[in-house]
Amino acid sequence: MGPRGIFTSIYLTSLLINCIQTGYSLDTSDHFLTPMPHVLGMSVKPDTALRDRSCSGCEGSPLGMSCCGLCAFWENPRSQSGVHHHGWEGQCNARQVAGLLSNLKEQGIDLEGFQPQELFDQIKGRTLWLIGDSQTNYWFLAVECFLKDYLVQEKRGQPTNSTEANMWLIKFIEELPHRGSRKAEPRPSMCTSYQENTRVCFVRIHKVEEAAHPVLRVLKRTVPNFHRDIAIVNAGLHYGVGDPGYRWSMEYFAKFVREHRQELATIVWKDTPPQHFDFENGYYWWFDDSKGGTAGGPKSEKCRALTQEELGSEEILAGGWFNQVAFEVMRASRVSVFNAYNHTLPLWDFHLKDKDCTHFCNPSAYELWTYLLKEHLKHLQPWLPA
Ligand SMILES: *[C@@H]1O[C@H](CO)[C@@H](O)[C@H](O)[C@H]1NC(C)=O
Ligand SMILES: *[C@@H]1O[C@H](CO)[C@@H](O)[C@H](O)[C@H]1NC(C)=O
Repeated sequence: MGPRGIFTSIYLTSLLINCIQTGYSLDTSDHFLTPMPHVLGMSVKPDTALRDRSCSGCEGSPLGMSCCGLCAFWENPRSQSGVHHHGWEGQCNARQVAGLLSNLKEQGIDLEGFQPQELFDQIKGRTLWLIGDSQTNYWFLAVECFLKDYLVQEKRGQPTNSTEANMWLIKFIEELPHRGSRKAEPRPSMCTSYQENTRVCFVRIHKVEEAAHPVLRVLKRTVPNFHRDIAIVNAGLHYGVGDPGYRWSMEYFAKFVREHRQELATIVWKDTPPQHFDFENGYYWWFDDSKGGTAGGPKSEKCRALTQEELGSEEILAGGWFNQVAFEVMRASRVSVFNAYNHTLPLWDFHLKDKDCTHFCNPSAYELWTYLLKEHLKHLQPWLPA
């Protein structure tokens, strides 16, 4: 390469870096700038301006810290090491994300071309309730950010107009001594408002029965037109593998849904996603303390892919221990099941730092679930109340 070639390539490289930083990609055939795929843009540059706007006016909000932080994945507390905070740690490796997008394309999933409007059209005029544990919380943050073009205000709000109901929808402390959750802050439910009376809300629960009581019980008597809404529910990871209480919880919930179906939002049960710890089948803790990280025992050094043997086992083929139980109970009660388990299994390399082989970086699993949920809702659409 002559000197001219070198200069040209330096010029092009710096132009490309510049484009990546600003969220645009260079279309080399036409020499004009096209916006970067919506989903890939999230892996490149945190939207600090949006985050700041979402935080202004939050002082004194009953939501406390949960009032603000739209699209601020890098502030995800689990993605930080201790109190230090080095840039954007909730972010996936952009090259890995590019690989994921192309693998998905081969499977007919165009996550790269996925437009916010495709999801918005499925939920327009309704509230999409995401009810679940921290895994669902992280997913909520991804859905909320994905729809940012439709925001009516950046500040999050409370789920209902009733102070009493909002109090019922706060998740307080959970008594699980091994897991450090005693120290956790109360977690209020929160909603983000979009155009055309559309909302996406997150309600925190840890146990399945909490989805029935208090959550659905309170929502059905407080939220106007709740029967028109859509509620995606999951709980599983706050039970140890093998806990007989999980089936009892599921059956309690299923019974509640059967008895109140007419007054409830359309209920969709979401799979419990696979984990990728070093322990058997990638799980983290067992009900009887027999294995895994339960009692503060050693954590795995890094996340791993499930072995061929595990992948071929009856339990993993059925969706892992939690889903084996949950899918059976939900299907028997004719509750719609949204199953992204198989699609999430290969994503062992997209977890957060700090040996967390449960939660995922952005954009990866959560954005994929959003895409798959859009597909699921498309099929449900004819059955949703007008
Ligand atoms: C709260 O009250 C306002 C004013 O009456 C109403 O427009 C809005 O729909 C209510 N929101 C909810 C979630 O009930
Ligand atoms: C996952 O895929 C395998 C192979 O196609 C299938 O047999 C299995 O039922 C699927 N499991 C779940 C939980 O969807």
